[in-house]
Amino acid sequence: MIQITPLTDAIGACIDGVDLSQPVSESVQQQIRDAFLEHAVVLFPGQAISHEQQLAAARIFGEQGQLHRPREFQPKAYDALPPGIMMISNIREDGVPIGSLPDGEMMFHHDMIHREIPDKATLLYAVEIPSVGGDTWFASGYAAYDTLPDTWKTRLKGLRANHLYHYGSTKKGDDKGTPAFGTCSHPVVRTNHETGRKSLYVNRLMTDHIEGLDRTESDEILQFLFDHCEQDAFVYKHQWTIGDLVVWDNRCSMHARTDFPAGERRLLFRTTVLDTQPPM
Ligand SMILES: [Fe+2]
Repeated sequence: MIQITPLTDAIGACIDGVDLSQPVSESVQQQIRDAFLEHAVVLFPGQAISHEQQLAAARIFGEQGQLHRPREFQPKAYDALPPGIMMISNIREDGVPIGSLPDGEMMFHHDMIHREIPDKATLLYAVEIPSVGGDTWFASGYAAYDTLPDTWKTRLKGLRANHLYHYGSTKKGDDKGTPAFGTCSHPVVRTNHETGRKSLYVNRLMTDHIEGLDRTESDEILQFLFDHCEQDAFVYKHQWTIGDLVVWDNRCSMHARTDFPAGERRLLFRTTVLDTQPPM
């Protein structure tokens, strides 16, 4: 029996009673999709799944994404993985990380917001975790928008923000002057076309400026919005347990990672789900 329990008032639900190593009935898949749309983040604890089973779980939510395989990391480590699976890891072989985004803290962001059609969802499956830290925090873009004063809602109407990404960077400004890997503009307030709900769609890691405003005004607005979005009241702080599979709706939530000891191993497998249209 599937059981869905909210994790906080603002965001997240735990789904018990589903074994993702087995085929999932259409009716249970629908309950999972409904929970995903309602809570933006769903946690399936206690899973023991293969790569193929993780990819099958991704297809519950839509079309499986095709991931870019990072060349700068240990290519041999990727040989054993099917297309569509990526590693997030600090484990090193011959001194080279086997996975992407290996070390330390990561600021709040929406995955691939620098692309024209960012991913609809991301699935992260925990295989090795450090004894402390490396938590993933999820913030509700819906709660952030809903709680804005009306004056701010009016001020943001029609504004678009420009987002950029420096490949492999987990902190804004640590790119040492290298050009951005990708850049794109999207509405500051995004409507999730599947729920019709509005969410704030800017983040501290990747949002650079608001189009058509001078830098001072743009910075003032963005600084206010970043601080507003990241309030504890809108955030679910996930401490990983091995076997957790977490799926997040990347259109109406953003996520961050806390620091963890460099000497401890961390390995998660990542898959994505494609969206069907650009943000609006
Ligand atoms: Fe991410």
